[in-house]
This record gives sequence, structure tokens and C-alpha cells, in this order.
Amino acid sequence: MNPLRHLLGCAATCLALVSAAHAADLNGMWRMDIHKASGVTLHNYIILHQDAAGIRGSVFANSSFEVPIAGAHAEGGDIVFHINWGWNFRVRPEGANLHVVITYDGGGRDEAVAVPAAASEMSPPAAVAPPALRTVPYNGLAATPPMGWNSWNHFAEKVDDRVVRETADAIVSSGMAAAGYVYVNIDDTWESGRDAQGNIVPNLKFPDMRALADYVHSKGLKLGIYSSPGPLTCGGYEGSYRHEEQDARTYAAWGIDYLKYDWCSAGRIYTKADLQAIYQVMGDALAHSGRAIVFSLCEYGMGDVWTWAPKVSGNLWRTTGDISDNWKSMSDIGFNQGRLAPFAGPGHWNDPDMLEVGNGGMSADEYRTHFSLWSMLAAPLMAGNDLRSMSAETREILTNHEVIAIDQDALGREAVRVQEHEGVEVWARPLADGGFAVGLFNRNAAETTAGFGWATVGLKASPVAVRDLWRHEDLVADAAGFRGVVPGHGVVLLRVN
Ligand code: GLA
Repeated sequence: MNPLRHLLGCAATCLALVSAAHAADLNGMWRMDIHKASGVTLHNYIILHQDAAGIRGSVFANSSFEVPIAGAHAEGGDIVFHINWGWNFRVRPEGANLHVVITYDGGGRDEAVAVPAAASEMSPPAAVAPPALRTVPYNGLAATPPMGWNSWNHFAEKVDDRVVRETADAIVSSGMAAAGYVYVNIDDTWESGRDAQGNIVPNLKFPDMRALADYVHSKGLKLGIYSSPGPLTCGGYEGSYRHEEQDARTYAAWGIDYLKYDWCSAGRIYTKADLQAIYQVMGDALAHSGRAIVFSLCEYGMGDVWTWAPKVSGNLWRTTGDISDNWKSMSDIGFNQGRLAPFAGPGHWNDPDMLEVGNGGMSADEYRTHFSLWSMLAAPLMAGNDLRSMSAETREILTNHEVIAIDQDALGREAVRVQEHEGVEVWARPLADGGFAVGLFNRNAAETTAGFGWATVGLKASPVAVRDLWRHEDLVADAAGFRGVVPGHGVVLLRVN
């Protein structure tokens, strides 16, 4: 019997109820070691509890987050459930152990034996006292929102040295480099562990980080990397906990130009009150690394990060949870950013997460809305698709230089919503040349005709020039304002002077 069974309170009295739900005794805590092709072993824990109320429990995913199980039910001899990370489980007893199959919504599958585990295995390491708050000087980077590519949205754990090199090649050959994309950013799953001196070591997917940086630099591009202030990243890989200075020096020695620093398992050690101090540790470490490294904070908007991120030398900070490649996720995030506009400016930007353009879950109109909205929000433009095989339509969206010019406008003022009526929204932002960028967004599924008056977007008189940034056309200004057809989930994006 699993030793934790008694801790979980399922004694003889509930046995009958258990057998009603399922004949097997699966109660307890189980550890499942998943051996990855990268040579890394990830630890996941399954905590199961069956009683009259049914089957409940949680998964301590990647040893980083405890996520409740949902939809649990008996199916044949198995128990089937999922967690809202897009992980689907099928478990069945196998001797004293469990046999577990996980399938992932994004594709892929892992199969492993889960063995009885002790609760103490899940205990986080002791906290190191956070430092006193101080201001880390601005690093002088990201005068305009960073542009580049990040591996996560499309590749997740399938990123490797070859993908990064081929992506760098594609950034140049597709015209994206000429359009302003610079950073080639490796997200989670590159890490292995630490050597005897405590130096971070990449896993088998990245044989030589220094050589990879040299290659990316030889293309005129820059290389980014990812870590966490916790012991483990969100994917369960080695984090920078208690090695911050050392890791920053390693990144500098490799030639890294950008760090995304993701809270993840730090939440098991610190509280939200510690956020600024913990990010300050890495801000300081980067400042002492001897290399100019963009500092990207990823803690999903906790603790009003926009109010303090510049004080830890943060150049950008995530304002939300993770984006998904669908209209609801993208539009819920994008159209809810307006209140954060006052916090963005040259050197420090709100980050509503990376782009999904070209990943296949939205229509071309929806992707144009996504790209327009992110540009209006002065958001970092981090392509998240497979640049090696993108369609001409995707490339045209990502390289629309007139839209990119709005995102990269030197004034660095983020757009706000200035009009909203029945799902049609007008957003406007002032530009360095005295003009305005205006987005007329249709959040409804059906095409509509809509418009706005010039005063609404900040103009004192009729504009002398109106430019449609998707059609690449100059329009004749009407003294009454603008009126036009907007596709369902689509946008008309204008530059007015
Ligand atoms: C978190 C971040 C994502 C990505 C993954 C990697 O979910 O928000 O952007 O970095 O971790 O594990």
C-alpha cells in the first residue's frame, strides 16, 4: 500500500466507496521520472485521492507548479484525467507502481512508471533572504521595443541548435532582419544541470552555446536565452536559484545578448512581496556581467510589475499569463492592455507576450489584428512561428514595415482606447512626428462599417495625410472623419498627420 494513503485520510471506511469508483488502490503520491531525449530527466508528481466525492488530486508538474486534476473518471481498468496545462493522463496500477501515459494538447506523449513518493520530496529548498531594495541603473538598451523571435510558442521543448541556426538564416533570407528583427531567443528546455564548479551546462540539444552565439552574431543578429530565479524553470529544467551572478557571467562569456527570466518555481520559495528584490538580484548580476544584456521579466504581471521593473533594470515585463494561438486568448490579452499605457516608454516596455502570427490557429485578418494591436501597444515584436517554412502571407504580416514603424516609433507612447461601440474599438497613439497611429478594430465576427471623428484620436483639425498601413495606400481625408469597412475580427490601421 502507498505509505501516504493514511495521510490522505482514506482508511477502511472509504474502501467501499473507492471500489465503487475504481477497483484499484491508487491513492497516494507518486513520482514519475520522464527521461527526455535531451538527456534531462524531469520529475512529476501525481497526488490522487479517491473517496465518495470521486477522484480528486493534483499534479506537481515539472516539480514547479501544483495544478489540480480535472475530469477524473474510471475507464476500464484505468483512471483518466487532465490538468489545465493541456496535459492528459491515463494511469493504471502496475504491481506496486502506476503506469502513466501523458499526451500533450500541443502534440507529443510521454510514458513512464510512477513509483510511491514521500511528501518531503516535494519540499522546496530553503529561501535565501532577499536583498534590500535599491535601484539598478538603466542598462541603456531597448530604446524601442525589442524585435526578434522566440522558440516557445511553436517549438516548446523541440528547440535545438539546428532550429536556432536555421531560424537565424531564415530571419535574414525572409527580409525580417531588414525589417528590424534582431534577437534570436532560446526559451525553456536548453538547460541540463551544473558542473562541479556550479556552472550551468546546456543539454544535448545545444552542444556548444558559444559557437551558436558566434554563428548568430555572424548573421548580424543577437542571441537570447532563458532562465528562472527559482531552482527549476517552468518546464522543470535547471534554474538560476543561488547561481545568479555565476549564470550572468556564463551568459556573457557565451555572448548572450538577452535574458528572459521566468518566475516559475521561485513562487515556491518566495512570496509576491519579494518579487522586486529577487528580480533585482539578476538585474545586478547582468549589470556586473560585463556584457550588454536585455533584461526581460516574466512573472505574468504579478505585483504590479510595471511600477517597479525599470528599477531592477528591466527592459520589458510580461503583463499577463501565456498567450495561446486563438482569437479569444489573443484578443482578451491585447484589448485589456490600455490601462498599462502610462508605464511604457523608451528602455522599458509592457510585454503582452510573444506573437502567434503564422502558427495556424487564427485567420489572416485575426493575425493582422494581432500584429496591429501589438504595434499600437508598443509591444516587443517577438515572432513565435516557424520562420523556416512560413507562408508568404505570414511573412507579409511580420515584415509590414509601415506597421513596424508604429511599433518602433521613437516617442514610445503606447496606444489607449479612445472609442468603443458594440464591439468596434478605436485605439490611438501619438507619434514622434506629431501625427497619430489609429487602429479601428472590429471584435465582432461579422464585417462592419464603422468610423471615428478626427478629434476623437487627438487631432485638432482635419489631417493633411491619411495612410492605410495594410493596403499601403494614401487616402483622401474627409473633414467629418474616417469611415470604412472592417472585416470580422479585423482592423483598419491608419497613420494620420
Ligand atoms: C512560462 C512562460 C512561457 C514559457 C514557458 C516555458 O509558461 O510564461 O512564455 O517561457 O514558461 O516553460
